[in-house]
Amino acid sequence: MLNKVFINISKLYSLAGGVRIHDALNDCAIYENAYMRVCDGKIVDVGYMCDLKIVDEVVIDLHNQIVIPGIVDAHSHLVFGGSRVNEYAMKIQGASYMDIYNAGGGIHSTVKATREASFEELYEQAKKHIYEMVACGVTTLEVKSGYGLNKETELKQLRVVKQLDKDLPIDIVSTFMPAHALPKGYTSYVYLDEMKDTVLPVVVEEQLAEYMDCFLEKGVFDCDESYHILKAGKEAGLKIKIHIDEIEDIGGTDVACALGATSVEHCMVTNGSSMDKLKDKGIVAVILPATSFNLCKEYANVSLMKEKGLIIALSNDFNPGSCPCTDSLWMARIASRGLRLTPNEVLSMMTINSAKAIDREDIIGSLECNKQADFVVMNCSSFDEVIANMMKNPITAVYKKGENILC
Ligand code: NIG
Ligand code: FE
Repeated sequence: MLNKVFINISKLYSLAGGVRIHDALNDCAIYENAYMRVCDGKIVDVGYMCDLKIVDEVVIDLHNQIVIPGIVDAHSHLVFGGSRVNEYAMKIQGASYMDIYNAGGGIHSTVKATREASFEELYEQAKKHIYEMVACGVTTLEVKSGYGLNKETELKQLRVVKQLDKDLPIDIVSTFMPAHALPKGYTSYVYLDEMKDTVLPVVVEEQLAEYMDCFLEKGVFDCDESYHILKAGKEAGLKIKIHIDEIEDIGGTDVACALGATSVEHCMVTNGSSMDKLKDKGIVAVILPATSFNLCKEYANVSLMKEKGLIIALSNDFNPGSCPCTDSLWMARIASRGLRLTPNEVLSMMTINSAKAIDREDIIGSLECNKQADFVVMNCSSFDEVIANMMKNPITAVYKKGENILC
């Protein structure tokens, strides 16, 4: 197969040089007037137009558009049935996330709808949402289960994820999240042990997940319960992610540190001493600002996280309740305003740093030799323009392993 060379890139945001912390977040390693050469789905050369020598290859002229790495969305609850639109008016009039949850709405109502939906219905709805994400530049997506809360439906969700990964051109990373809520009629340890003893072995046997996650939160699962289920996941060979500090800081960081988690996610109310512990262990903080926006809640203290040198990633948290948003560009705009981040900081956090949140920083998240050719072409003058202007989506092509997957 002939190589492809993409020419006349006005700004190529390469993000070369690895994961970014502190001031390096502002450095996107930009090449102006660049080209990029791709062979067998991988980047083999990046350089300046003035140095380009075209050989026997396919030339694709990008006509002075910009190029960024494919967006890595490291946190989603993609596979679900039903809708929670009916909760919106309640929420905007003051009902809290936990009020709705405790009244049997929230996650519980999605669990009911997900149990009732067939494999095909879940698959089709999730596929539609993936293509909405691709249209906003996503080329790799993490997906969690957790709307089943019983053996049959947790496995149904994870099998949908596996099938989507096989069929669709983006890469999907799967996370088993049985402790997302306590189903009615159970006490916590009875439920957790049922998941551990009857579902986890199937997840491992069928290779349905790479990570295990848990909603560690006051009124959901406490530290001991979370440790109990996550430790079983770890012993079975899964890596660990944890939802912590979305509403209250009840010590989730200590559980993450004890288990050597890859990431902690949400971190809306994480305090300074917890941040120090995350920094020491190299655990990525995955921040989800579109959730803060949608819940009308506070934003994570990213300025302090930056100051302390944490690895910070930004992701979207697509789900039917706390963040019904498939648009990563809107998430990026919210992130910049809500967390006071520059466009370059936002871009670092949603590419190379979010690749680190799924342990893939060696293969995706930046545009440099030997990395996968996952990139997004935008018809605008800079990434600053995408963030500063809240206008039309400027994406004209989304390449996954060197092929345009934008429909
Ligand atoms: O990441 N916080 C827990 N899980 C999801 C919300 C799920 C839901 O509301 O359905 C989240 O925000
Ligand atoms: Fe979540």
